[in-house]
Amino acid sequence: MEIGWSPEESGIIGYEHYMLKEIQESPRAVRDTLAGIRFDQVSEAASLIRNSERVLVVGSGTSYHAGLLFGHLLEKEGYDVRTLIASEATTLRPREGDVLISISQSGETLDVLNAVKNHFKKYNIKSISLTNRIESALNFVSDIRLHTRAGPEVGVAATKTFTSQLAALLYLKSLIVGEPTDYLEGAPAAVSNSLSQQGYAKAIGEELCKKSDMFYLGRGMGVPLAMEGALKIKEVAYIHAEAYPAGESKHGPIALISDGFPVFFVNDGERTALLINNLKEMKARRAKTYSVSVNSRIGADEEIYFEGDSSLAPFYISPFLQMVAYFAAVCKGANPDRPRNLAKTVTVE
Ligand code: AGP
Repeated sequence: MEIGWSPEESGIIGYEHYMLKEIQESPRAVRDTLAGIRFDQVSEAASLIRNSERVLVVGSGTSYHAGLLFGHLLEKEGYDVRTLIASEATTLRPREGDVLISISQSGETLDVLNAVKNHFKKYNIKSISLTNRIESALNFVSDIRLHTRAGPEVGVAATKTFTSQLAALLYLKSLIVGEPTDYLEGAPAAVSNSLSQQGYAKAIGEELCKKSDMFYLGRGMGVPLAMEGALKIKEVAYIHAEAYPAGESKHGPIALISDGFPVFFVNDGERTALLINNLKEMKARRAKTYSVSVNSRIGADEEIYFEGDSSLAPFYISPFLQMVAYFAAVCKGANPDRPRNLAKTVTVE
């Protein structure tokens, strides 16, 4: 059961697809998630993490990407973090002092449940879960249960649940490191700002829809956001997209670049000079470059630019990339709500 949304609000009236409706619901999903935070529970989770020796993060697909971004932010603060793809997590042997955080919007993904219940629990390590459903199986095997309040997500592609996971995880990270959380009050507006650029996202999506392969490149926080951008366009528009840390592109992937090959940069405003170098390398090989940029431009052929608090960069970047994927799918004549071969919740190993 999702929290706080009536059945009527889950309908599709006025929209062609759930995916676009749910992307547009993201400001509310983020606002509700932040407003609904149970301070006692998040504080307990924060103190568990603060007092741990190592933080293990598990998730699948989009939730794994949310975990990577969270892990990156904690690593920057000096924490020892291992972010694991749930289906591979059981090869890691936990040790005393570890704390586990599992992320799953459904709370029912078998790979995640398996990792938590059949593996990590056996080692008696404390576990925290973050789900969008209060009665999910994952909640029952976790010591501390945190929630997003994104409402029901019908489209197979995770959109507003991802943005809400980021809001909850950024809040948790702020409590862990003892910084104020007020900056997050600007998150819903950052998402709305991103959504206001729907026309540009549509134009880019319609251009990409003619392509069969592409790259997403980023640095730092931009890496998991690039991975999520690539997953989304692969999933709904059937475009073969690979994501790399931008610096890694010259160690092999650049061999694929030829005239007009699309390369989408995710520029969170940090280490911009290095991203510009990577962009130049791509342009020199006649790639067609795109960028979603926060607080600094890098000079891509097509660049959407947002100015705002750089701590909120994911809230500008992610909805824009989701819209690009959505419009690429529609342009292809694909149904983004029901991508082939995919289920909303994967309950097989
Ligand atoms: C996201 O667009 C995908 N449909 C998929 O990767 C999904 O995120 C993954 O299966 C994990 O689901 P969960 O968050 O419900 O565990």
